[in-house]
Amino acid sequence: MELCCLVEYLAIFMGIGLLGAAVSIFTKKKRDLNGKHVLITGGSSGIGLGVAHDVARRGASVTLVARNVANLEKALEDVRSTASKAGAGGKVQTFSADISGDPEKIASLVKDAESSQGPIYMLVNCAGFSRAMKFEDISPQLAKQMMDVNFMGSVIITQEVVRSMKQQQEGIIVFTSSLGGLLGIYGFTLYTAAKGALVKLAEALCQEVKPYNITVTVCYPPDTDTPGFEEENKTKPVETKLISESAGLFKADEVAHKLVEDALRGSFCSTTGFEGFMLTTLCAGMGPITDAASFLAQVFLTGLFRSISAFYLWSFDRIVYQEHQKRLASKKSE
Ligand SMILES: NC(=O)c1ccc[n+]([C@@H]2O[C@H](COP(=O)([O-])OP(=O)(O)OC[C@H]3O[C@@H](n4cnc5c(N)ncnc54)[C@H](OP(=O)(O)O)[C@@H]3O)[C@@H](O)[C@H]2O)c1
Ligand SMILES: *[C@@H]1O[C@H](CO)[C@@H](O)[C@H](O)[C@H]1NC(C)=O
Ligand SMILES: *[C@@H]1O[C@H](CO)[C@@H](O)[C@H](O)[C@H]1NC(C)=O
Repeated sequence: MELCCLVEYLAIFMGIGLLGAAVSIFTKKKRDLNGKHVLITGGSSGIGLGVAHDVARRGASVTLVARNVANLEKALEDVRSTASKAGAGGKVQTFSADISGDPEKIASLVKDAESSQGPIYMLVNCAGFSRAMKFEDISPQLAKQMMDVNFMGSVIITQEVVRSMKQQQEGIIVFTSSLGGLLGIYGFTLYTAAKGALVKLAEALCQEVKPYNITVTVCYPPDTDTPGFEEENKTKPVETKLISESAGLFKADEVAHKLVEDALRGSFCSTTGFEGFMLTTLCAGMGPITDAASFLAQVFLTGLFRSISAFYLWSFDRIVYQEHQKRLASKKSE
């Protein structure tokens, strides 16, 4: 009798869930960027530059923020030509600044950007970097820089932009984490900590800004072929290379396009490829529920994906063990 009740409850509960899912699929409409202002940190290179091209094609005005002036100039011209080829009328401007620098400078940058191109409708935090190395080899300076740029750099400018978005009663905020922000990977201790911190920040912020019609999206790129990735590749321990290789290497434009599409839909997670889908589903936890398809995947696939994770984790451990053995052997033969 009691078991029977439980089954009924479960059936009703799942029925309501599925109905809700179906309704939300058909009623949720994608926002558009025509005539809107998009600010992209790290917009002069890699994924951020890909986002700039993508939103310019959709008719947005674009502000690019990065440090190197020559790279900004080059990006400015490229994005302008993309906009004009697409027949889109958006403007493009650039600001040279260190996002981990003086908060007052960031505040005045946001003010200047808005006074020339209107209120920021979408903020894409893409500036960031990674260095893979063994934990004890990371200098205190590098450790601090990794947190300052990847984490605090997104915090400071987002605080500034959120104030303005709340007044507008609309907006989209994107944080760029990493698949490495969802699980520990050899060589990425500090990077994982910084990128993982962004995820929890985004979960809490999402709840705060929802009444103001502002959505939050976290992008989790897999390995993506960018200048930043090439730089990281130069000093990467072989373990890190072998472990992260299992998710493949993606094109910046593909990751950027998916980021924009998911952000316009208001989805909390954005990722590319099977490993990305598996990890974001598996790590959803108490994250916000923003779309039916992801929610259903989380409800029905978490157990399966946790089982699959055992094979991945086993193969990662094997890589680390084998490389360790190789090093021991080469030391002995010296
Ligand atoms: N590529 C990948 O495989 C991968 C994977 C997972 C996550 N991600 C993340 O995705 C984001 C973009 O990566 P990417 O590979 O496209 O990087 P990228 O090619 O190195 O581009 C990084 C951009 O950020 C800017 N930047 C870096 N530090 C900055 C600072 N302190 N202040 C202002 N701007 C700064 C850079 O310009 P300046 O140097 O001139 O300032 C550049 O425009 C990063 O957050 C990265 O951690 C990348
Ligand atoms: C929320 O923002 C969207 C644009 O992002 C706008 O179309 C819509 O009217 C806004 N809704 C409210 C209730 O302000
Ligand atoms: C990364 O470095 C290795 C050499 O250590 C090289 O074979 C590989 O092509 C590099 N990959 C990229 C994408 O630069």
